[in-house]
Amino acid sequence: MKEGTFYVTTPIYYVNASPHIGHAYTTITADVISRFKRMWGYKVLFSTGTDEHGQKILESAKAQNRDPKEHVDMYSQVFKDTWKKLHISYDEFIRTTEPRHEKVVQYIINKLYEQGDIYKGVYEGWYCVPCETFYQADELVNGNCPNCGRPVIWNKEDDYFFRMSKYQDKLLEHIEKNPDFVQPQTRRQELLNRVKEGMRDLCISRKGLTWGIPIPFAEEYSIYVWVDALINYLTVAGYPDDREKFETFWPAVHLVGKDILWFHAGIWPCILLALGIDVPRKVFAHGFWTVKKEKMSKSKGNIIDPVQMANSLVDKGFDWDIAIDAVRYFLMREVPLGLDGEYSDESFIHRVNSDLANDLGNLFFRSVGIINRYGDGIIPNTGNAENELLNIKDSIIKGLDEYMTNFEYTKVLSDIWDFIGAVNKYLDQKSPWSLARDGKREEFDSIMFNVFESIRNIAILIYPFMPKVSEYLLSSLGVELESSLKREALEGWGKLKQDWKIPEVKPLFPRIEV
Ligand code: MSP
Repeated sequence: MKEGTFYVTTPIYYVNASPHIGHAYTTITADVISRFKRMWGYKVLFSTGTDEHGQKILESAKAQNRDPKEHVDMYSQVFKDTWKKLHISYDEFIRTTEPRHEKVVQYIINKLYEQGDIYKGVYEGWYCVPCETFYQADELVNGNCPNCGRPVIWNKEDDYFFRMSKYQDKLLEHIEKNPDFVQPQTRRQELLNRVKEGMRDLCISRKGLTWGIPIPFAEEYSIYVWVDALINYLTVAGYPDDREKFETFWPAVHLVGKDILWFHAGIWPCILLALGIDVPRKVFAHGFWTVKKEKMSKSKGNIIDPVQMANSLVDKGFDWDIAIDAVRYFLMREVPLGLDGEYSDESFIHRVNSDLANDLGNLFFRSVGIINRYGDGIIPNTGNAENELLNIKDSIIKGLDEYMTNFEYTKVLSDIWDFIGAVNKYLDQKSPWSLARDGKREEFDSIMFNVFESIRNIAILIYPFMPKVSEYLLSSLGVELESSLKREALEGWGKLKQDWKIPEVKPLFPRIEV
């Protein structure tokens, strides 16, 4: 990895249904860090995609009466369309059925086989199709899958195995030496415990399963879908042919849900160690969104669709782009990444009303109202900094890269909202409208300059979370976007355009009556 670069990944999603807020959550989280890092001058590679092979996908295609290829093409497009709607700025969208990926998977399997890390043995145990996971009898809970609780199937066949146990000690050492390799700490502890219990060799083949990548030296087998899927992160990084890209970006930061931590922080690093490649820079495992305390899932029928959430705001008078940003804001603000979050329509509406309409919206619209009424709509640029506000801004910027890199988004947003609160309070205390009425023009100008300069800074700070709201605010302030969405634009105080007349603005966040 070269200095100043950043590679972030989401899991690649199974193409058996449309995305819900659980999927959107990881993808938006990755989008926020990508937008932030680009703003901070990093060269970013942000990758997402779809996981299209395996028994689960084959069965879902059958159940929906579709040819598997047609099925995966369709759902993969649904994911792409949804990410477009949610303003996701990914650089790469990878599909595991693409030839470029199949080539890399086969290359890796051959390499591991040739170096003696893959051997043939007998697999005897259980398999959960919905989770695409092998289990031994002692891992089952009441005879069912310990992860999803559904029935498992018995499997006994000749199979190929990866010598995972060989890399256990190296992995353990890495986790122990690198306290931030897995975050949050509770998950790191879980992982440590599991690695210490001992790692069995991993079955990496499925006999007779045709919807998968064939094992190059034994074509009656396909490669276990999780091994196929994990390798996507290397394919995107250009491994093995594009050395330049690979050396620029690898290792990646993997964002995952807590249910798939073991695959990413247990199995995956062992494969990488066997290949002589650096393990991931970080694996961050987030929690689950629940509805009435139950994990969302298609089978329970309690799915929350992010696009429908946005539509519910459009019905209340929101513009589409602003409604999407409100969904993004809610998901990033409501729960610290790492904990579970309970979704309800009430909590969504409450956030939108209080943080967006009452705090941010109110600050902007009352400021514009004051300047229109008492200052001909022209933002004064007096240049006198109000230290109280400048200091708040500086203290946010100080730790920002570190907080963002540790995915402490709720802390960052709460700091930005404290800033918004401080500017609203500043307006109340200074009551510039009375100064204008009393003819104290200079004082009025100075206050309004500081208010709008604060709004400019706030608009830049919220950009990674709410890009369209940010762009709307900045363009209303006459600020050029390209030069504004940069770290330098947050330095100092007083980068507003001289004598800019604010155009007519529309209320961004209509208050939702409940
Ligand atoms: N295809 C695998 C990942 C392979 S990555 C090499 C997979 N796909 S998935 O579509 O089932 O899930 C993708 C992600 O969505 C996981 O990180 C999972 O944790 C997340 N979520 C699924 N339901 C969720 C919630 N209800 N809440 C939050 N995230 C959840 O696993």
